[in-house]
Amino acid sequence: MQIKEILTLTPAEQEVTVKGWVRTKRGQAAVTFIAINDGSTINNIQAVVDSDNNQINEETLRSITTGACVAVTGKLIASQGSGQAVEVKAEKIEVYGTADETFPMQPKRHSMEFLREKAHLRFRTNTFGAIFRIRHNLAFAINKYFNDKGFFYLHTPIITASDAEGAGEMFHVTTFDIKNPPKTETGEIDYKEDFFGRETSLTVSGQLEGELGALALSKIYTFGPTFRAENSNTTRHLAEFWMIEPEVAFYELEDNMALAEDFVQYVIKYALENCADDLAFLEKRLLDEEKNKPQNERSEMALLEKLRFVVDNQFERLTYTEAIEILLKSKPHKEKKFQYPVEWGIDLQSEHERYLVEKHFKKPVILTNYPREIKAFYMKQDADGKTVRAMDVLFPGIGEIIGGSQREDDYEKLLTRVKEVGIDPENIWWYLETRKFGSAPHSGFGLGFERLVLFVTGMTNIRDVIPFPRTPKSAEF
Ligand code: 4AD
Ligand code: MG
Repeated sequence: MQIKEILTLTPAEQEVTVKGWVRTKRGQAAVTFIAINDGSTINNIQAVVDSDNNQINEETLRSITTGACVAVTGKLIASQGSGQAVEVKAEKIEVYGTADETFPMQPKRHSMEFLREKAHLRFRTNTFGAIFRIRHNLAFAINKYFNDKGFFYLHTPIITASDAEGAGEMFHVTTFDIKNPPKTETGEIDYKEDFFGRETSLTVSGQLEGELGALALSKIYTFGPTFRAENSNTTRHLAEFWMIEPEVAFYELEDNMALAEDFVQYVIKYALENCADDLAFLEKRLLDEEKNKPQNERSEMALLEKLRFVVDNQFERLTYTEAIEILLKSKPHKEKKFQYPVEWGIDLQSEHERYLVEKHFKKPVILTNYPREIKAFYMKQDADGKTVRAMDVLFPGIGEIIGGSQREDDYEKLLTRVKEVGIDPENIWWYLETRKFGSAPHSGFGLGFERLVLFVTGMTNIRDVIPFPRTPKSAEF
């Protein structure tokens, strides 16, 4: 039985066996208290060992230190101390594995940098236990949301020949001996000789393949690993991250925005309802951290309040052009405090996004109708010829959490755009054909899963919300 379940039992004369890792051991003359955690919950269960219990010898007891793995059997009794209702009166202890004093996760607050260095053991801390349980619950809620709404989970390829975002940030996949690849007569690498018969890479987005599904099954979503070889060492970027991409036939931009808002609110609400203990723990942790900050740097809302606010309030909707006007009138623009100057046509930087979300509107914002030059080739063009039916959802403390659009469904317009941006139409003939046969208006978006987990957990570095972060120069496992 897991500790989560044992903690809900009423104390009785029943015997239980608790298996888990020792968080702390405190000794008094007559009794020893061992706090055990098995990762099923943030809460530990306490095992109480009486020194006159001659079934548990002193040597066994001495070998139990922080980090050891044990199985404690005994009666579940009402707890004498405060904090929890029940505890285990130990009758038998089996030590599966000891841990000496070099075990790095000692019962004190470690810095996040330190824990990142000990990534193989950080799972054993309260903080990372909470984060990964919340991550699991969010993933479950995402699948549940779409299933309940009639979407089908479509598995799109990891190895692909298309650069969906056209940004050229791909990890190449080849079966060649990279030191000695076959060459064409003109000296270029001959991908025709490769296993896949052409140049391939790890997917940067499942969208283009997702569209094929949506134009037949009507409502699909993908949820899979995504790879971007962008060498950006920021707290918001990973080289390997997970993305959720719904794609819906017959949806226009407005429907797409409504879906994004409802979906994100649903999954956050799910976490509030199902991860209350873990969220309360993380909130307390954050509040403790904030005590060391000057008053003006502390957040205006505590974690739970912030999450409830996002669930209960409509996201602000405005166009890129309106956002530029707001930024041009803003104090930081007038005082030249933005690092990147504002003008119509720029790709908004995180300082601009954060100004809009955190200072101006003070709530999540959906920006639409961006200049077509700064967005991907597949977005539907607006009648003005300048903008496209794009939408980005911006979150406080995060910036862009979702990017999406209505898709260009007109064959000729799409073909022209494909050529304009320098894609060989031969390479995406299959995508273009969907606009030749039974084309339909359709829309979709991509939610960066780790950015969502960042927001919900209140963590500040994306490396701390994925079990095995892949960032430039980090691939220990
Ligand atoms: O805005 P992006 O690049 O959009 C797409 O890939 C579209 N094909 C999605 C679609 O319409 N189906 O990426 C979508 C989201 C971003 O808003 C961000 O949350 C996340 O993916 N993202 C990253 N997350 C972590 N690390 C990175 N390097 C990321 N790049 C994008
Ligand atoms: Mg984007």
